[in-house]
Amino acid sequence: MTFLLSIVILGGGIWLSSRANNTDCLKFLQWPLIVIGASIMVVSLAGFAGACYRNTFLMWLYLFVMFFIIAALIGFIIFAYAVTDKGSGRPVMNKAYLEYYLPDYSGWLRDRVVDEGYWAKISSCIRDSKTCSKMGRSFNGVPETYDMFSMRKLSPIESGCCKPPTDCGYVYVNETLWNPGGGLVGSDLDCSRWSNDQQMLCYQCDSCKAGVLGGLKKSWRKVSVINIVVLILLVIFYVIGCAAFRNNKKIDNDEPYGEARMTKAQPSWIHL
Ligand SMILES: *[C@@H]1O[C@H](CO)[C@@H](O)[C@H](O)[C@H]1NC(C)=O
Repeated sequence: MTFLLSIVILGGGIWLSSRANNTDCLKFLQWPLIVIGASIMVVSLAGFAGACYRNTFLMWLYLFVMFFIIAALIGFIIFAYAVTDKGSGRPVMNKAYLEYYLPDYSGWLRDRVVDEGYWAKISSCIRDSKTCSKMGRSFNGVPETYDMFSMRKLSPIESGCCKPPTDCGYVYVNETLWNPGGGLVGSDLDCSRWSNDQQMLCYQCDSCKAGVLGGLKKSWRKVSVINIVVLILLVIFYVIGCAAFRNNKKIDNDEPYGEARMTKAQPSWIHL
């Protein structure tokens, strides 16, 4: 059972890393999950062998290592919640999408994303992912209208990185092309960072950094739900494993003859 659970955890880690290359653009956060999943997998095999061959040492090893893995998983779940604790998108008047503001976020992950060298990597990853150019929708060659665009639900990165903040007052041409209107452009620094150069867009905007943080929060929360379910199941199996271990030892101590084991009316699932 723990072996099957390890597949679920590994799946979560691999899902995160596929997102890391496509949408989230942060490439280190999935590793703890992959390491935890892989260790559960290896240790479960040891436990399985220990149960099958009634090898007390292997079962002892299984329980001992699994204890630390469960502790690591708890630590990881707390960490995942702590780093993605604060911040969410803000609703905008008459828009279906949310907008993202950097001051809404704080903490270790924010510092990491804002760091100049690191941001250069993340922003070029977003550019390479073509998230913004994939946003375009046209009908018979004509880009969707502003009203239609306003009704769309955008992902945090699409909202933060691919268009200027609404407050700036830019005039919509298509999803990634916005002209300064007749009026003044807003005073927000992001307004001057916006560029119609399709390689630049709002990749240097604070809203883009906030969008990355908002996107991470979403995918991390999803993974955390899976992790919590897995944790509960792991603890249940751990308790069953402890019972089986005690049972193994008891049989070893009580019955010196191998044959007696076979004949004893002991439900066989207990050993597993
Ligand atoms: C918006 O128009 C520009 C200029 O024609 C084009 O380069 C860009 O790809 C368009 N954006 C989208 C999302 O289609």
